[in-house]
Amino acid sequence: MFNLFDYENAARELIEPAAFGYQVGGANDELTLRENRRAWDDIAVRYRTMVDVSTRSLATTVLGTPVSMPVLVAPTAMQKLAHPDGEIGMARAAEQAGTLMIVSTTATIGLAEVAASTPAPKWFQVYIYQSREYTQRLIERAVAAGYQALVLTVDAPFLGRRERDIRNGFTLPTGMHIANAEISGMDVVPDATADASGLMQHFRGLHDPSLTPKDIAWLRDLSGLPIVVKGIVRGDDAVRAIEHGASAIVVSNHGGRQLDTSVATARVLAEVVTAVDGRGEVYVDGGIRRGTDVLKALALGARAVLLGRPPVWGLAVDGTAGARHVLELIREEFDLAMALAGCRTVDEITADLIAS
Ligand code: GLV
Repeated sequence: MFNLFDYENAARELIEPAAFGYQVGGANDELTLRENRRAWDDIAVRYRTMVDVSTRSLATTVLGTPVSMPVLVAPTAMQKLAHPDGEIGMARAAEQAGTLMIVSTTATIGLAEVAASTPAPKWFQVYIYQSREYTQRLIERAVAAGYQALVLTVDAPFLGRRERDIRNGFTLPTGMHIANAEISGMDVVPDATADASGLMQHFRGLHDPSLTPKDIAWLRDLSGLPIVVKGIVRGDDAVRAIEHGASAIVVSNHGGRQLDTSVATARVLAEVVTAVDGRGEVYVDGGIRRGTDVLKALALGARAVLLGRPPVWGLAVDGTAGARHVLELIREEFDLAMALAGCRTVDEITADLIAS
């Protein structure tokens, strides 16, 4: 395995086809899914030369937490679909790589168990549910389990139309559960129907499509934790989030899984960074597969990137060791990209590196 694409190809052979389809796929025609990737490829780098790059540091911080590189593990649902170790396998890989994992609400292992599996800092991804009582209970559990920030996903009032999943009648295999939903007695994944996958049904029954920026302040006051708002592709939305108490923004279109034909994240990152104007941190995800993508994201103003699908492919191939290797591959690529671009520290990755 020499790069992240190798891992995707290997995982395709290992994961049950409907589950792989769920993980790899996007909404409708999957145009945004492809465009996310292409947008990074479209950016050219004006590298610097004649800089002594014999020693380099990739380290940074996210909301004050030190990480060994500006690559975090994105929240991705139901990781037991990839490997029986699921989210615990992933947490161990993130810890070993010295980075931070964002644990999905839609995990197949309960939030407290994942939190306890490593001493490393973790963030917890949340949705706002129709039942505020249930949301509150979940948040209280996340706080008690020691999560250090909440990542509120705002691009999913409903689940996007994932035709692969509808065709495949995708639903969770018997014996696997959305553990955090189960804890409070809420259901699990209902069966797929003719026009909706099991997960689409789950969303319809549980998620609150009436979310507004006021919910950011509500979550922050309830939890006492910093709130990261994920799923933004416009400067004005980022400003609304910051003004309602967000500490950070993730420029994201949910990996092309929500509104198909939505704009690629690489194309709006600079707009969001400019609008936020230093009032919060900005991260980005969507289509990042190469160390050069990480370099470009930082040059466009991101503090860190989130890597979603690739660590899941690593997990499928070899559990913790596979997910760890994926993180090490992107670290090595990013380190080389920094050196070849004349950057010794992440602070030296500046906007002038981007060719206009
Ligand atoms: C869940 O958030 C998904 O994208 O499937």
